[in-house]
Amino acid sequence: MWRRATSFSPLISSFKSSFFSQEASQIKILEMFTTGIPLQEKGGTCPNRRAPFITFVLGGPGSGKGTQCAKIVDTFGLKHLSAGDLLRKEIASDSEYGSMILNTIREGKIVPSKVTVELLRREMESSDNYKFLIDGFPRSEENRRAFEEIMEAEPDIVLFFNCPEEEMVKRVLSRNQGRIDDNIDTVRKRLKVFEELNLPVIKHYAKRGKLHKINAVGTVDEIFEQVRLVFAPYERRLKEN
Ligand code: ADP
Ligand code: C5P
Ligand code: MG
Repeated sequence: MWRRATSFSPLISSFKSSFFSQEASQIKILEMFTTGIPLQEKGGTCPNRRAPFITFVLGGPGSGKGTQCAKIVDTFGLKHLSAGDLLRKEIASDSEYGSMILNTIREGKIVPSKVTVELLRREMESSDNYKFLIDGFPRSEENRRAFEEIMEAEPDIVLFFNCPEEEMVKRVLSRNQGRIDDNIDTVRKRLKVFEELNLPVIKHYAKRGKLHKINAVGTVDEIFEQVRLVFAPYERRLKEN
């Protein structure tokens, strides 16, 4: 199981770094008293905790992220966490954020990062897996910074499914999963938000040499062949349990 050194904020709390560093050092001192050994940071060697292997999956609406994630899970055994699915689950669970999330999704806008990152954090910390495929996140620089600050982790791989707009529109409108945001008006808004907020994230990871641009046009298998090559250098690490 992968667990961060500390378990932080409730959904409603703010995530100022001063708070976190203070909290983290307090908990670390407490751990030293209770176990004699402070828990390891990312990259540590503690046998029951290990560095997470994180893949972010980016791309516009309908670019095929979810479809390719299913194949990545089957082939490489990563734990799939779709930010959109977690938000939709939160609406269905009657949480206090449900109506805010519903309205935001209906408008094709981005849910505040503290909500989304908290949902991801819970899933990651309670998972037996340490390899995560985080789909549809980060959608904005705010998302990205919040994740780095709260999780104190960065992705190992960033996949970007590059797809022409007309193809994305066609796929979304024929997805047929009953989603409130799969209609032409919301799709137009989502595409605009993608350009304005997601492209800067893509540029950020390109600059850091972490971005793998995938041509998202073709058959599902043809696209997956490109994805497979991205994971190939990590195969040994991905086989470890
Ligand atoms: P995203 O998660 O990026 O929004 P999905 O994986 O849900 O995209 O795909 C959107 C729609 O397009 C789905 O109906 C899916 O079956 C279809 N689709 C996925 N990949 C392809 C592809 N390579 N060619 C044609 N249709 C595709
Ligand atoms: O990725 P998916 O298409 O499932 O996302 C659906 C919607 O969920 C987005 O259009 C957006 O409103 C919301 N979302 C978000 N922040 C994310 C991921 C999704 O606000 N990181
Ligand atoms: Mg999806």
